[in-house]
Amino acid sequence: MRPKLGAEVLTPGKTATAFLAGVTIVMLISLAVPASAAGERTAAAVSPDGRLAIALSIEGGVVRYSVARDGRSVVLPSVLGFRFAEGEPMNGGYVSLRSTSRLIDETWQPVWGTDAFVNNVCTETVARIVKASGRELVVTLRAYDDGVAFRCELPPADGFADYELLSEDTEFRFAGDHTAWWIRDDYDSYEHLWNETPLSEIPGANTPVTFRTDTGLHLSVHEANLTRYAGMTLKRSEERELSLVCELVPWPDGVKVRGFAPMVTPWRTIQVGETAGALIESHLIENLNEPCAIDDTSWIKPMTYIGIWWGMHITKDTWHDGPRHGATNENVRRHIDFAFRHNIGGVLVEGWNTGWDKWGAKDAYDFVTPYPDFDLPALAAYAYEKGVELIGHHETGGDVPTYERQIDEAFSLYRDHGIKAVKTGYAGGIYPRGQHHHGQWMVEHYRMVVEKAAEYGIMLDVHEPIKPTGIRRTWPNMMTREGVRGMEYNAWSEGNPPEHTTILPFTRMLAGPLDYTPGIFDITFDEYKPNNRVYTTIAKQLALMVVLESPLQMAADLIENYEGHPMFHFTRWLPTTWDETRVIDGDIGDHVTIARRNTMSWWIGSITDENPRTVEIVLDFLGEDRYYSVSIYRDAPTAHWDTNPTAYEIVRESVSPGDTLRLELAPGGGAAVTLSPAKY
Ligand code: NOJ
Ligand code: CA
Repeated sequence: MRPKLGAEVLTPGKTATAFLAGVTIVMLISLAVPASAAGERTAAAVSPDGRLAIALSIEGGVVRYSVARDGRSVVLPSVLGFRFAEGEPMNGGYVSLRSTSRLIDETWQPVWGTDAFVNNVCTETVARIVKASGRELVVTLRAYDDGVAFRCELPPADGFADYELLSEDTEFRFAGDHTAWWIRDDYDSYEHLWNETPLSEIPGANTPVTFRTDTGLHLSVHEANLTRYAGMTLKRSEERELSLVCELVPWPDGVKVRGFAPMVTPWRTIQVGETAGALIESHLIENLNEPCAIDDTSWIKPMTYIGIWWGMHITKDTWHDGPRHGATNENVRRHIDFAFRHNIGGVLVEGWNTGWDKWGAKDAYDFVTPYPDFDLPALAAYAYEKGVELIGHHETGGDVPTYERQIDEAFSLYRDHGIKAVKTGYAGGIYPRGQHHHGQWMVEHYRMVVEKAAEYGIMLDVHEPIKPTGIRRTWPNMMTREGVRGMEYNAWSEGNPPEHTTILPFTRMLAGPLDYTPGIFDITFDEYKPNNRVYTTIAKQLALMVVLESPLQMAADLIENYEGHPMFHFTRWLPTTWDETRVIDGDIGDHVTIARRNTMSWWIGSITDENPRTVEIVLDFLGEDRYYSVSIYRDAPTAHWDTNPTAYEIVRESVSPGDTLRLELAPGGGAAVTLSPAKY
């Protein structure tokens, strides 16, 4: 009997995943089930646990999708449609569809990440929807236990070869006026503080946007596998209440996407979790990307790093040469020595190449010519001798054509000196003027750089990036990126309030890792900038190094502030890739506690907003009947982000599985904890 989808639940059968002594056996069950005959008007995919469903329907010639959980609406019927500069609009006139479904059940092993194994288990339904004219829209639906996704494809057709997309009209019509956490729909920057408002008050937002419903369900809207397309923002619908509409970032002439058919959109994603923490544990975004495209990934190595970075932001040093130049031979050697002595993986060197005196101007930077007081070959050799990675830097200031002209030479130079990681930057308006950081032209530039870096054996840390959409699964040399209002804002603006970092794990970080650059110990840095400061306690700075996951994790302060500091011990052994991640507890904008395992040891970061908090962690996840040595780096009882930010305590104790760990977090505070199996 042919199973009929739609309102019914598809039973996908049992999962087919097996592990063998560290080797992943991936089994892809491809049950191509004809789910509907020609002439149907609905199609659906239901999650393996039967609770989440995404459905398509044709009504009045218009295609809509909807999402339900446990039979209750999450997204009300929402329009799908596309309009072009020329040719037939693809937003109406649909008559029927035909669909097939299959169960995808595989396990894959990321090169690095938050879990050693990732399950990709969902039901996929592909619906071919035809118009009276014969033109086709193919919509692929995926229903996972932790969210749903869909993508649209317009195959080549008469009059649809090269195209100019004027608008994608995908709607997100919500079932209630949920609480929303969002940043505004800036086409060039994600460096904003987060707003918490009813969703009806969002004028426009960049994704991810995260929501909490009245019943406590958590949702987040984003996109996955953004390739040869423009970044999606969400704009308040002018037609319908509680509805957001896709607004793509335009080219200078207003066109959104140009290309050759087929036109394939990124996945539109809606993560769904019963708790806020469930959103963090989800791998939905990565699962919607292609498998790894790099054959030999042995050179891709997560690490901690330090840099001559904070010094420039607090005006101790300069990027350009002169009496306070940061990137001098002597200063870089001092940093390499420090990294060597303290088991830190890398040293980032900004301001090594000529052009910083012209930052922002056209053709300012030269990516191959060092300042005279920076001897690249000698420093690279010195770093190599000490087993420390020198991390290169390419600041483009937004001048993309100049960077593209030099990129091969620039990457070759680094490769020839054994430099395996490069931080890039796009701090400034994009040249050619009128292009946006988040438009299609830049999406393609950023991807070109990732692919080229892979060719040269280079890992990337991108600042002023396009948001992450899970391409790290395909290109695991795309390590980390900014795309956030990071630590630097504390150096030269009114700063980031204590609650900022309690929002990021539930919003920006659902998209991927973050180069926030935590770890400032000299909280007020009065010696350099008495009017600026960091808005946390010192213990919270350590906790952030676990909470704000990044495969390249910076300890950002001046190294003289770390030298001899007992709290720095935590950083010395900090892993930056994990075998398992568990969110212990969390409320968006209030607090979050995350435990991550690397081999046999657990690392916990717990942070709070401006309110003090007691966190109780039941250690049931230790899982083995043995003792663990615990080190707790916490706020002293008198600590307070405002009045006493550097008061800390380090305590060591021993626990066994099932014990409860009690952490007292100061206002704006946190705790960082390590648990290692005790040696008998
Ligand atoms: C902005 C980046 O976010 C920061 O990390 C960097 O130091 C400056 N641009 C200079 O490239
Ligand atoms: Ca920045």
